[in-house]
Amino acid sequence: MKVYEAIALGAKELESVCPNPRLESELLLSHSLRIDRVKLAIKRDEVLKEEELERFLKYIEKRKSRIPYQYIVKKQHFMGFEFYVDERVLIPRPETEILVEEALKRMKSGDLILDIGTGSGAIAISIAKLFPDCKVYAVDVSEEALEVAKYNAEKLGVAEKIIFIKSDVFSNIPQDVKFDLIVSNPPYIKKAELENLQEEVKKEPILALDGGEDGLFFYKRIIPDCKFYLKKGGRGLFEIGYGQREEVEKIFLENGFDEIEVIKDLAHIDRVIIGRYNL
Ligand SMILES: C[S@@+](CC[C@H](N)C(=O)[O-])C[C@H]1O[C@@H](n2cnc3c(N)ncnc32)[C@H](O)[C@@H]1O
Repeated sequence: MKVYEAIALGAKELESVCPNPRLESELLLSHSLRIDRVKLAIKRDEVLKEEELERFLKYIEKRKSRIPYQYIVKKQHFMGFEFYVDERVLIPRPETEILVEEALKRMKSGDLILDIGTGSGAIAISIAKLFPDCKVYAVDVSEEALEVAKYNAEKLGVAEKIIFIKSDVFSNIPQDVKFDLIVSNPPYIKKAELENLQEEVKKEPILALDGGEDGLFFYKRIIPDCKFYLKKGGRGLFEIGYGQREEVEKIFLENGFDEIEVIKDLAHIDRVIIGRYNL
């Protein structure tokens, strides 16, 4: 089978699965051939080797079973860096880059940052990469997620700037460490909404999605305990889901935070909430 024929076949197979079947077919074929997608055009009339075609068809089958593209190619770009991802971690989302950008704007030399629920390490590692003089604690309750995060930290050359701890929220963080910023993109989907999620999202770890009955479980756990771990004047920065702003703002105000700010994403949805701990 020739390259252009394989692309057409893949696109047809993926028609009912994704909005851009041809693009995904091209991307999966270029991944099978270990080349850049732009190079496909030059190879259009070349005949695929048996193992290349086999690999491609295997990827198409996986994608047809609604496995996210990123889990098939085992990577996702975030803040300009290539992160390894697989079923052990949430696929980092573009809107989470807002959280990183807002954190970076508020950092100063020597700052100590805590990332709760680090997953692939996307937030912690990007901060460590982009802010030269800082130290980051990255925690997750999932041992498997921490394996991926550590791998990414090594791969991206910042392992020595990050301390990884298996911890249920704050449980294993030493009480004497005080942070300048606590950041988190916690699970925030309401339990009842989990079953209506897109099939691809359902392939992501439930632990990374389930925000309890009202979706606010983690904000209610994290924000009150920030007082034990934030320096006075330190800030909490959290990603929030659609419609969660008011409730999370209330939790901030009830727990000694002021100067609340909310940052919208490109779809004009409140996406990041920031508060200053001032007690
Ligand atoms: C929405 S994902 C965010 C992953 C990553 N920070 C990102 O933004 O792509 C939430 C993460 O919180 C972790 N998590 C869930 N419950 C936790 C808990 N009790 N303590 C610490 N981390 C937890 C999950 O394992 C998951 O990695």
